[in-house]
Amino acid sequence: MKGIILAGGSGTRLYPMTQIISKQLLPIYDKPMIFYPLSLLMLAGINEILIISTERDTPYIINLLGDGSDFGVKLQYKVQANPNGLAEAFILGADFIGKDDVTLILGDNLFYGDISFFKDAVVAHKSRSGSFKARVFGYYVEDARRYGVVEFDRATGKVISIEEKPQEPKSNYAIPGLYVFDSRCVERAKKQKPSKRGELEITDLIQTYLDDDELGVGIIGRGVNWLDTGTPDSLLEAAQMIATTQKRQGLMVGCIHEVGFRKGFIDKTKFLEAIERIPKGPYKAYMERIVNEDEVEI
Ligand code: DAU
Repeated sequence: MKGIILAGGSGTRLYPMTQIISKQLLPIYDKPMIFYPLSLLMLAGINEILIISTERDTPYIINLLGDGSDFGVKLQYKVQANPNGLAEAFILGADFIGKDDVTLILGDNLFYGDISFFKDAVVAHKSRSGSFKARVFGYYVEDARRYGVVEFDRATGKVISIEEKPQEPKSNYAIPGLYVFDSRCVERAKKQKPSKRGELEITDLIQTYLDDDELGVGIIGRGVNWLDTGTPDSLLEAAQMIATTQKRQGLMVGCIHEVGFRKGFIDKTKFLEAIERIPKGPYKAYMERIVNEDEVEI
């Protein structure tokens, strides 16, 4: 399973914060936003990842994350010239994906809590259990009109419909920006036509799998926090959530170096070397503290 983080777009709802820097590099409490989706992929065992962003922002992201070797991930980068839609990620990522399965996560989507819903989906997808060749997730929200929405049969779990930002949602289940596909998503994305708003819609791509009866939906339980951090309010809420959790537990959320170490992507020697390169401050101090704490769950 490979991973793609789509971290482009213009971030207009966060202007003027996004006047000179990408939304996905803005802080969520004590880390850049992109650390959170990146660590989610890593927690599910994904360590080959393509990051797609704008021409302006890609150099900054490379500056931040490099080739990923400090935390045991093979990172590649690709520029998206214009925000032509989420499904374009698979066209830009065609060579990277090759014949592998792929998870796409939007760089502004943050999940926190029991993420077994995602780990299980990755395992099920890899083992080819069931007939699903694409998987989306459903997250209950009060107002689903701002999102892709999935309608499904509660008894069988079978997907009935998916719609992008419907005026009258057929369910309260929003589709977060986290999707698992087989490699055929590339060919399917290439055949897509832009929607009325001129974008290659992810929902249209998902629809092709639904048409072929190959779409699965995993319901995310109520203990999980899913936030998309596209507005000043949601940015603040996410920061508060991370701060509260971290202060209570004394453990970091989304610390990519720790995740790389605990997942075994890097050994202790490499982890210690990476810590050496990090400037003095709370992030370094945290890692110096936890390097010998074996009993901590991730
Ligand atoms: O957050 C979940 C929602 O994300 C889903 O429920 C929707 O089905 C999906 O279409 C998407 O809706 P948004 O309204 O959030 O999409 P938006 O156009 O804002 O793009 C989401 C992120 O992807 C945003 O951070 C910018 C980035 N992006 C977007 C486009 C269209 C790109 O990097 N490239 C693009 O071409």
